Amino acid sequence: MEILSPLRFWKTILTILYVALFPSLSARVQDSHLHKTFSSSDFVTSFRLSTAQIGETTTSPYDSSLGDLQKFYHFPKRKSFPPNFLFGAGTSALQVEGAASQGGRGPGIWDDRINRNKGAFIDGDKFPTMIQHYKRYKEDVQHLKYLGINSYRMSISWSRVLPDGTIKGGVNQEGVDFYNHLIDELLENGITPFVTILHFDYPLAIQKNLHGFLNSSIVNYFKDYCELLFKTYGDRVKHWTTVNEPQIVGLFTYMHGYDNDDPEPCQATKLCKQAYTVVHNYILCHATAVKLYREKFQATQGGEIGLVIGSESFEPYSSKSEDVAAAERLTDFFIGWILDPVVYGDYPKIMRELVGNRLPNFTEDEKKMVAGSTDFIGINYYTSHFAKHETNKTNITLSDNYDALARSEDFNAEGKALGYLDKRGHTFVYSEGLYNILQHIKKEYQNPKIYITENGIPSFNITNPLKDIHRIKYLATHLNYTKAAIDNGVRVGGYFVWAAFDTFEFRAGFSQNWGIIHVDFNNNLKRSPTIAGKWYKRFLNT
Ligand SMILES: *[C@@H]1O[C@H](CO)[C@@H](O)[C@H](O)[C@H]1NC(C)=O
Ligand SMILES: *[C@@H]1O[C@H](CO)[C@@H](O)[C@H](O)[C@H]1NC(C)=O
Ligand SMILES: *[C@@H]1O[C@H](CO)[C@@H](O)[C@H](O)[C@H]1NC(C)=O
Ligand SMILES: *[C@@H]1O[C@H](CO)[C@@H](O)[C@H](O)[C@H]1NC(C)=O
Ligand SMILES: *[C@@H]1O[C@H](CO)[C@@H](O)[C@H](O)[C@H]1NC(C)=O
Ligand SMILES: *[C@@H]1O[C@H](CO)[C@@H](O)[C@H](O)[C@H]1NC(C)=O
Repeated sequence: MEILSPLRFWKTILTILYVALFPSLSARVQDSHLHKTFSSSDFVTSFRLSTAQIGETTTSPYDSSLGDLQKFYHFPKRKSFPPNFLFGAGTSALQVEGAASQGGRGPGIWDDRINRNKGAFIDGDKFPTMIQHYKRYKEDVQHLKYLGINSYRMSISWSRVLPDGTIKGGVNQEGVDFYNHLIDELLENGITPFVTILHFDYPLAIQKNLHGFLNSSIVNYFKDYCELLFKTYGDRVKHWTTVNEPQIVGLFTYMHGYDNDDPEPCQATKLCKQAYTVVHNYILCHATAVKLYREKFQATQGGEIGLVIGSESFEPYSSKSEDVAAAERLTDFFIGWILDPVVYGDYPKIMRELVGNRLPNFTEDEKKMVAGSTDFIGINYYTSHFAKHETNKTNITLSDNYDALARSEDFNAEGKALGYLDKRGHTFVYSEGLYNILQHIKKEYQNPKIYITENGIPSFNITNPLKDIHRIKYLATHLNYTKAAIDNGVRVGGYFVWAAFDTFEFRAGFSQNWGIIHVDFNNNLKRSPTIAGKWYKRFLNT
């Protein structure tokens, strides 16, 4: 039985819904898991960090899985990673900037969704100001510098530079200048900008006039927007990603209908089509932007360009061949949906078989443009799931793709979890899954360059968000498996913690405290590094 969705974007809201709807079930699942955790042999009742390590002494009464923290602290060493490796942290424009209707920014789709559905969003009232990064960016760069990171993953707000989404509608110079200042400030402080062009949010006018990504003509507007960015910032920005997690948008907004502005009535039949149309147009936007960059800018500017996908490792629910096949299917439907086209020029065969006429075709010219359309692949990794064969689509719920005929599960046929349940982050932590997915991409997609563009765990079940001890083990073990993958020939070029600062996580608002720099809403939005932030700093500086 699932408690958590596989995808961070909606994780909390689905958990809340689930717990609200099925409280007794959830409690049972958690209890049974706890029992296993507590009886495991590596159980320790407490651990201690030395003051020298993090500048604070802390004990945890229950976190068995943390084990001997010193061990985690001492590996892996920064110097064991390649010399030009990017170590960073990330945010996105919408989730931190604020100034929603200041500086000439036009309304975006999320402004509208929240305005129309305030009750469904925790912290909806904080939306217009967020953490005031727009106003306080200089101070924020100093916090990033304090961490010792050499790269910052940020995104540009389309609505801030092109308020109605189009060049014809006018470039907002004040918005353009904001990113000029931010990029310059980063570079002056030794921090390389790693820039996402589209991170979930886009101008409301694009939604209203075109129906957004449902309309293939969005490609032209996206291309114009990209050209403006390459022209304006490409002298200083050398790492671009076109789009972030198109699959998540496809599955959550369009297949499952959360915050869908044009919902299709497919919940009864589960023969949904929009998700495939939207992702198809995302892929065409990506490939068109890459073609433009390669033809007009790359030779002179010397940067690289890729895209970012959500990722998970799917492990068979049992050794039955039907579950082994289910794990392969879920992988193809989640990872292959994007990577097969951008590497080979078309969707996985199994998707053609199972989705049929609802899956759009690429023309021959599009295939040529899409194939090989990425200099690197960015993966966001949080957790993993078991995959269980399921032929009855009615039983496929939460965030799973109806057409994959598989369910993702937290527990396998023997009742075992993947990794351990972190109770402060409500996440099953499975760092081997990151290694598995890196290996999978290496093997299946011609050993491309990869960046881990997001990795992290929330802290929403702790009293003091600064004491996010549980994150140290999370980050250290994921770095450990990143290193193991590099040693095994995977070409990983960088690693970004999600998130640098506390981020507005859509329906979950700020309730999850994702930042390794905490923002205190009760104290003038004061920024303070968390214990995990201090740990990351020490890791980076030794
Ligand atoms: C698609 O976008 C174009 C503008 O580029 C518009 O004329 C057309 O009506 C849109 N189609 C739909 C179905 O919204
Ligand atoms: C895609 O092409 C195949 C083979 O030509 C065709 O059978 C199918 O109907 C097409 N699908 C769509 C959505 O146009
Ligand atoms: C699928 O599952 C639903 C809910 O459990 C059930 O009502 C329905 O009869 C099942 N359909 C088939 C074809 O087994
Ligand atoms: C799944 O569907 C089958 C019918 O195909 C039904 O018997 C079963 O109870 C369903 N399981 C769940 C977990 O809904
Ligand atoms: C939150 O953490 C406490 C321990 O600090 C634990 O007892 C409780 O079960 C957790 N709650 C949830 C919902 O995981
Ligand atoms: C670190 O990675 C190695 C593989 O290189 C693995 O054997 C080991 O179990 C990992 N340690 C932890 C604590 O995850």
